Amino acid sequence: MILVTGGTGTLGAHVVPLLRRAGHEVRILSRGHGADLATGRNVDAALAGVHTVLHLAGSRTGDGDKARTLVRAAERAGRPHLVHISVVGCERIPVRTAVDRGGFGYFAEKRDAELVIENSALPWTMLRATQFHDLTRNLARGAARLPVMPAFAGVHFQPVDTAEVAARLVGLALGEPAGLVPELAGPRPYAMAELFRTYLRATGRRRAIVSLRGAGGAYRAVRSGANLPLAGADLGTVTWEDFLSTAAQSTR
Ligand SMILES: NC(=O)c1ccc[n+]([C@@H]2O[C@H](COP(=O)([O-])OP(=O)(O)OC[C@H]3O[C@@H](n4cnc5c(N)ncnc54)[C@H](OP(=O)(O)O)[C@@H]3O)[C@@H](O)[C@H]2O)c1
Repeated sequence: MILVTGGTGTLGAHVVPLLRRAGHEVRILSRGHGADLATGRNVDAALAGVHTVLHLAGSRTGDGDKARTLVRAAERAGRPHLVHISVVGCERIPVRTAVDRGGFGYFAEKRDAELVIENSALPWTMLRATQFHDLTRNLARGAARLPVMPAFAGVHFQPVDTAEVAARLVGLALGEPAGLVPELAGPRPYAMAELFRTYLRATGRRRAIVSLRGAGGAYRAVRSGANLPLAGADLGTVTWEDFLSTAAQSTR
């Protein structure tokens, strides 16, 4: 039995069918399925009889606490292999002030979750991925609803295809615990304005893109590329342009 936390999310929707097609029995842990990692509700029951956990549940806030709840329950449940998805750069983006937390608190939460898992008594495997194409598309779609699209000057992203992340995670979940594995990113980095321009072209829209400057240490770290993969990362093959051309109908 493999437990997939967040199995109903964007990533989980790719991971769960891959596991089932490979012949594995899969249980999903999510609030929609009756368990909650924020409160602990039904988490022990979800872990009963599980030998591997893919931990994909996440939200804007509280991922450190969710990891703590999951790890404690997994330690009680016989120490299954925990496979965790984290985010590239979370250990390199300093989140110290309220300004940092406003824009980049998510990275601190992901780092907190990593430390909880690294310091646990569980066998674990951890993959850091860059932003998924789906998330990047949602960001562009939201910005395109504004009269002008605000793009941070000097900030780059290297988005990756969600299906490629899912395939990598499933491979890791079916293998032995491997600790921190090489990062996974998309084929190349794009300036934020370039991501937006490509989105506008793909969806046949016209908007002006305005350049913004952020403030604080976390923003400076991101400007200097702390959210981009390290040397030695694995790169996916599906580009932002490929993704937009196949997802064109749903981007309008
Ligand atoms: N999106 C990206 O670009 C990106 C990049 C790198 C890493 N990641 C990480 O990858 C993971 C999956 O991302 P995603 O984009 O698939 O997220 P998503 O689409 O927002 O899905 C989140 C999933 O987590 C579940 N969940 C949220 N809060 C929960 C709670 N308190 N208890 C139990 N389940 C809860 C949700 O189901 P319910 O709402 O029913 O609870 C849902 O199944 C996250 O950990 C995220 O931080 C994402």
